Amino acid sequence: MTNQLSPDLTRILVSEVTIQQHVWELAQQISADYAHVERLYVVGVLKGAFIFLADLCRQLTIPHVVDFMALSSYGKAGAVSGAVRLVMDLREPIEGEHVLIVEDIVDKGLTLHYLVEALQGRQPASLKTCALVRKERHHEAISVDYLGFEIPDVWVVGYGLDYAERFRTLPYIAELNPSVYRA
Ligand code: IMP
Ligand code: MG
Repeated sequence: MTNQLSPDLTRILVSEVTIQQHVWELAQQISADYAHVERLYVVGVLKGAFIFLADLCRQLTIPHVVDFMALSSYGKAGAVSGAVRLVMDLREPIEGEHVLIVEDIVDKGLTLHYLVEALQGRQPASLKTCALVRKERHHEAISVDYLGFEIPDVWVVGYGLDYAERFRTLPYIAELNPSVYRA
């Protein structure tokens, strides 16, 4: 398959099969940890988490509901993450709910930090975080309760992750060729 990789991508970091295996393992772990609660309140962070969230939720074996928030970084779309801005809020209050934030990727952790602060203030019964990938360089600073993979500090795309809205629906996670964002 590597010979068919787009020249915009340098290499596949996490294959489709490996992603699916880890998503299944995360779902097993989450289902076991929340087996005692009436329902889990899954909060997906748009847009990047929508594919991960769809796969993860369909593997959960516990009662759960799904809602979404949309956040965006100030500045123009691309490889730079700045201050966080709330674009779309949850539809319902989460007071008394067991909330799990599902994020695509943790880089500097600004987004996750913002979300945890914002949702903690709404008195959930509990609040935990789940991310598919985290960049290695920040692994000490940002704790994630349920994490799929650690990846090198490169810009990645696929499985929900984009560069300027491109590459989101690739089934694997690949490193973007730096020539794409330097162009
Ligand atoms: P943070 O706030 O620096 O942790 O950045 C997190 C957000 O930036 C993620 O939710 C993504 O939307 C975006 N992001 C960070 N790194 C990447 C990447 O390598 N590919 C695609 N999006 C990324
Ligand atoms: Mg995101």
